[in-house]
Amino acid sequence: MNESNFYITTPIYYVNDIPHIGHAYTTILADVLARYHRLLDRKTFFLTGTDEHGQKVQQAAAKRGHTPQEHCDKYVVRFQDLWKRLGITNDDFIRTTQPRHTTIVKKILQDFYDRGLIYSGSYKGWYCVPDERYFTEKDLVDHRCPECHRPVEELEEKSYFFKMGQYQDWLINYIEEHPDFIQPEHRRQETLGFLKNDKLGDLCISRPKKRLEWGIELPFDPDYVTYVWFDALVNYISAVGYLADDEKFNTWWPASCHLIGKDILRTHSVFWPTMLHAMGLPMPKTIFAHGWWLVGDTKMSKSLQNVINPMDMVDKYGVDAFRYFLMAAMNLGLDASFTEKLFVERYNAELANDLGNLSLRIVSMIRRNANGILPDYQEPGEDEKELVDATMTAVKEMSAAVESMQIDKGLAFVITAIREGNRYFDKMKPWALAKTGDLNTLGRVLRHTAECLRIVSGLLYPVMPAKMTELRTTLGIPSDDIMPSITRLSNWKGLQDGATIAEAAPLFPRADPIKEDDAQQKAEPKKAASKNKDKQPVNLVTIDQVGKVKLKTATVIKAEKVPEADKLLKLQLQVGDEKRQIVAGIAEFYAPDQLIGMTIVVIVNLKPAVIKGIESNGMLLAAKKGKALRLVTTDGEIASGASIE
Ligand code: MSP
Repeated sequence: MNESNFYITTPIYYVNDIPHIGHAYTTILADVLARYHRLLDRKTFFLTGTDEHGQKVQQAAAKRGHTPQEHCDKYVVRFQDLWKRLGITNDDFIRTTQPRHTTIVKKILQDFYDRGLIYSGSYKGWYCVPDERYFTEKDLVDHRCPECHRPVEELEEKSYFFKMGQYQDWLINYIEEHPDFIQPEHRRQETLGFLKNDKLGDLCISRPKKRLEWGIELPFDPDYVTYVWFDALVNYISAVGYLADDEKFNTWWPASCHLIGKDILRTHSVFWPTMLHAMGLPMPKTIFAHGWWLVGDTKMSKSLQNVINPMDMVDKYGVDAFRYFLMAAMNLGLDASFTEKLFVERYNAELANDLGNLSLRIVSMIRRNANGILPDYQEPGEDEKELVDATMTAVKEMSAAVESMQIDKGLAFVITAIREGNRYFDKMKPWALAKTGDLNTLGRVLRHTAECLRIVSGLLYPVMPAKMTELRTTLGIPSDDIMPSITRLSNWKGLQDGATIAEAAPLFPRADPIKEDDAQQKAEPKKAASKNKDKQPVNLVTIDQVGKVKLKTATVIKAEKVPEADKLLKLQLQVGDEKRQIVAGIAEFYAPDQLIGMTIVVIVNLKPAVIKGIESNGMLLAAKKGKALRLVTTDGEIASGASIE
């Protein structure tokens, strides 16, 4: 592939249910990245789609009295409609039931079989029906599925296997030699951890038709269908013409970025690379696993009835505000919390207040004091220095953030530039200049604020395309520049002298704040009591005493409950090159799953202790107030083993 081309994919979603905020997030993120790369003038291909085979779909269809294909045709529309509503600009939508996909899967299977890469054998193991995966006895947690914690069934059957195990050393070397291949770093470490500690077995790629009919029939045995993951992963190449359209395939493969959630890391970081290697194809440049959206601190689940429907948020606050929140509030790679209260707080502060105010102020000033005509350009002077610096920093940082997958960080720089715009406006007091008749300075202030707005609206365009189109149109930007290009955003002068500034309604009307939830209100009276406590004299320590405590960052690799201890979790940590085990009293606040991959802070020179018969080597730091407890983490990505200074 031409290095400057950008090919991005989302996971293909199961069509067994309605899409929720998790699906919306991955797709919006891919859309934002695709749009940013277009803005950076790169040729871009963005793929999403649906995963339509397998037991889950067969079961969901049977429950509703439909054939599996009828079920897929009905449910796929919900995804396609949601993507339209969310402004998703995918270039293709692949469905794994389409012949363009199924024929390629069959060709790959036949080729592997002919080359002895697939063989038949007998398989005995523990099978998780919802995840459609086999596990060994050792993988199980409390005799349940280690992924979804649901019960598993013991099965033995004739199966076909892909010789995945033979690629173990190759894969370890590849990951070690390509630090960008699996991102973020803690997911790369997690993959290397299980590849180095466990023997990689062969992959069972068949399901007997007597148990599961809904799948791609194996070309060499009509009694079997293909394991859904082997089928699904191939979408990333079948969609761009593998074995069908060489020119298209060579234009886009290898993919630049497979965007996935952390829940499907192993299938992408182990199954997929070994399959590609067996096909003799180059690896995708990056497989990026993002964190999960939690509701408050809790995992979203149907049984808890806390699943957020993206349509509800969009109907209430608009598509663009929803896209913005998802992008600004998640540090890519870590989990993030979604609550309507957090949403409204950020919406009011950054969109209604910072951005909304700046646009309204500039537009109404120009309309009132300059007859709606943009004043002529004047070179920026000392007064404009901070404004120009903050805005140009935002351009540079946003471009860097796209490359390093830190969209939230890039957006924070854009908001800083907007705040600088408001500060400049307040400092220069254009309303007073209008009164005193200093029209020259007035023109200069209005024009420079408008240029700042042009640039920040361009930087925000990939995240909020509809609202930024509105704003850019108001600023008199010609239609061929509404979708910005980075070159034009890097120039301070970009608007046209004498452009007409249109009348505009508020972009983001203020939303009613959401009241504290019940639990928080109950905690309120305690706050007053603890206020006085804060004022109590404390025992002062010297800097030497502080220096005795050694603190380091650690990545959580494994977390599990301690049997018969409701409050305790046993954590396995990676601290630089070293592994450590600690026992922590945080089980009431964190589910084990939630912790995997988190970077926390640990006291590493604490004397070992034995808690409930388990050795604990260190202590983690957490902030505690009333009934709330949150772990202390770092403000951004940093490798484990970093010392806290
Ligand atoms: N069909 C497989 C993927 C095959 S890719 C070759 C699958 N589908 S899924 O419908 O279950 O969607 C999984 C994806 O949805 C996750 O990997 C993640 O991208 C997204 N999310 C689902 N729940 C999520 C959250 N709560 N938060 C963020 N994203 C999550 O797995």
